Amino acid sequence: MTIKILIVASLISFACNANANRTVPVVNSCAFTIWPGMHTAGSSVLDQVNGWEQAAGSTVTFDVPDNWSGASIWGRTECDFLTVQGPTSCVTGGCQGGLICTGTGATLATAAELTLSASLLDIHDISVVDSFNLPMTLIASNPSCASASCPVNLNPECPVELQVLDPAGAVVGCNSACSANLDGNPTNSSNCCTGSHNTPLTCPSSQVTDYAFFKNACPDAMVFVYDENLSSLPCLADLRSNYTLTFCP
Ligand SMILES: *[C@@H]1O[C@H](CO)[C@@H](O)[C@H](O)[C@H]1NC(C)=O
Ligand SMILES: *[C@@H]1O[C@H](CO)[C@@H](O)[C@H](O)[C@H]1NC(C)=O
Ligand SMILES: *[C@@H]1O[C@H](CO)[C@@H](O)[C@H](O)[C@H]1NC(C)=O
Ligand SMILES: *[C@@H]1O[C@H](CO)[C@@H](O)[C@H](O)[C@H]1NC(C)=O
Ligand SMILES: *[C@@H]1O[C@H](CO)[C@@H](O)[C@H](O)[C@H]1NC(C)=O
Repeated sequence: MTIKILIVASLISFACNANANRTVPVVNSCAFTIWPGMHTAGSSVLDQVNGWEQAAGSTVTFDVPDNWSGASIWGRTECDFLTVQGPTSCVTGGCQGGLICTGTGATLATAAELTLSASLLDIHDISVVDSFNLPMTLIASNPSCASASCPVNLNPECPVELQVLDPAGAVVGCNSACSANLDGNPTNSSNCCTGSHNTPLTCPSSQVTDYAFFKNACPDAMVFVYDENLSSLPCLADLRSNYTLTFCP
């Protein structure tokens, strides 16, 4: 059945313009300014830089190539680029570079991940595998495609051992058990799915510390490396979906 769908999808795509761009509106529904950061492993975005300031209530929309791959967008909070340029410019989500990121996020944050395809399947997810800092949703414009989300603010209930504090002592992020290095062995960890736990079979969710805390609040987010359900949501590329990313939905 899946194979049939794939074949049909790829046949249809031959008839379509494979070079059309898609639109990615980024909405800041938080009550405060954020500084989104962006990283792309594949084709880059031509009309948007990899980091920008975005006021509360505003939307920034840009086009991405049809085959945009290995892309991630995350929110940075409490930034000051005047005194420091680099990962510590922001309390959460800081990257190498300054306002404009020159690599992946260097400090940890909720991330939207997108790999678009010109011909087969788009894949999209919201990941808290590394950490949570802001609630986010990533919604395909075609209603037949599922939505990815971690729509709840996890910071107030974050277990003490996972908390990320700002200089005033407020909980502004919630690291995964892997990122918090709870088991003290990052190269052989059932929280990180490394070493003898590096396959889906040897890294079950039941052995990931605090899995339920994240999954119960955010069932449609990717919570650990081998999270099966809704971890990466396929959307037929031929539907040419746009993807709306909302912070603090
Ligand atoms: C896609 O976007 C790029 C950058 O904005 C632009 O140069 C190009 O013409 C667009 N292509 C199409 C097919 O719209
Ligand atoms: C995306 O498509 C463009 C234009 O066809 C091509 O030059 C580029 O190599 C492709 N990038 C990826 C990551 O497939
Ligand atoms: C990794 O830890 C497991 C216990 O969680 C242990 O059985 C195994 O021998 C360790 N593997 C390595 C390569 O250290
Ligand atoms: C995945 O989803 C199915 C159907 O909703 C459910 O029965 C199953 O328990 C879920 N598995 C995990 C690991 O959450
Ligand atoms: C994607 O957005 C573009 C530009 O706003 C629009 O023309 C197009 O119809 C949208 N595509 C879908 C599938 O919603």
